[in-house]
Amino acid sequence: MLSWDDFNQEEAPAPVAKPKIEQMPSVNEVVQEAIKPAAPVAPVKPASAEPAFESNVDSKDEQTNSDALQQAINDLQSLDIASGLEELEGTANRVAVDDKRMINCRADLNQLVPFKYDWAWQKYLDGCANHWMPQEVNMNADIALWKNPNGLTDDERLIVKRNLGFFSTADSLVANNLVLAIYRLITNPECRQYILRQAFEEAIHTHAYQYCIESLAMDEGEIFNMYHEIPSVAKKASWGLKYTQSLSDPNFKTGTIETDQELLKNLIAFYCCLEGIFFYCGFTQILSMGRRNKMTGTSEQFQYILRDESMHLNFGIDMINQIKLENPQLWNDEMKEHATQMILQATQLEIEYARDTMPRGVLGMNAAMMEEYLQFIANRRLVQIGLSEQFKGVSNPFPWMSEIMDLRKEKNFFETRVIEYQTGGALSWD
Ligand SMILES: [Fe+2]
Ligand SMILES: [Fe+2]
Repeated sequence: MLSWDDFNQEEAPAPVAKPKIEQMPSVNEVVQEAIKPAAPVAPVKPASAEPAFESNVDSKDEQTNSDALQQAINDLQSLDIASGLEELEGTANRVAVDDKRMINCRADLNQLVPFKYDWAWQKYLDGCANHWMPQEVNMNADIALWKNPNGLTDDERLIVKRNLGFFSTADSLVANNLVLAIYRLITNPECRQYILRQAFEEAIHTHAYQYCIESLAMDEGEIFNMYHEIPSVAKKASWGLKYTQSLSDPNFKTGTIETDQELLKNLIAFYCCLEGIFFYCGFTQILSMGRRNKMTGTSEQFQYILRDESMHLNFGIDMINQIKLENPQLWNDEMKEHATQMILQATQLEIEYARDTMPRGVLGMNAAMMEEYLQFIANRRLVQIGLSEQFKGVSNPFPWMSEIMDLRKEKNFFETRVIEYQTGGALSWD
């Protein structure tokens, strides 16, 4: 076996003379060199005339390389830097905080600072501190339980399969919506920085579901096609997709009340409804399994994902409320009514999903309890974006879910996660 010492001996590169620091050009010198007017270039001597070193490249190839290099140098000398930068809107001036806006901003979007929306930058930092990877979670107990014919009941197996089926494509729909629909329309660099972080987290979530599906040796075709084939999953996916489609048209532009409201509807659909309601039946079911010491690896993956998702949701709510604040004309009675209807529709679809995944009581819960929980969640989403509660007198039948998502605990989680990340440990179930 190759040891590190062998590697060092065999692969150690020959010592290379370090360039003297005083010989290195400064950044200013490089820029000055780049922008100085084109000077006549001395003709390049044919490489074949006086080879500087022995080479197995024939002279015809060397001639071609020289021509290509000369072409590159000539093209760079005719590069018009000013006209290149004109393509970027508003780059002539340094950006002031007051120039920044969530949508329809004309200031330079390549200048991250000065920050206007500290909440967005803080969430970006918190998201990075919360970094995790699916392979860190031990799946051995899940594999043994899943293979054991008496390990889980049929109803419990249905829950695992349906949720992996729904989530494995849902997170991909969210990621596509971020990068193909909303990224270019949110005109603020600190929010874009978080959206890029979120997009990577969605990729990690899809990876986590794939990792569970592969570990459990499930039928991948069956799981990944549920969003086509299982009505309760397909309805949720297609409900979300129609909001992506309206914005992903390359000709779509914000700037009118109608199009700005279209963007707002997309944000409500994805952050409040998809990530804020459609995920909650599945999260509750899988986390309930983990609390009962079943499918603990899968549950741990879902627990990490839930912590990411609660931050995505909070970021989306902040974005929606900031857009409303800066553009009060968008939040008229018609828009409020539309937003309320969207949240009611999403709640109804999630209740149908709960009934489909829980035909009988299982894991200490049933579809009726889940219905009340989803109505409780819907009330919270409505209030979070300034609308009235629609379900009177409902309470939370699963207070332990609130415990997991409690903000103070989330901060504790970040602190402990850093230690766990260093030691390779795992979350424990209280
Ligand atoms: Fe996700
Ligand atoms: Fe998310």
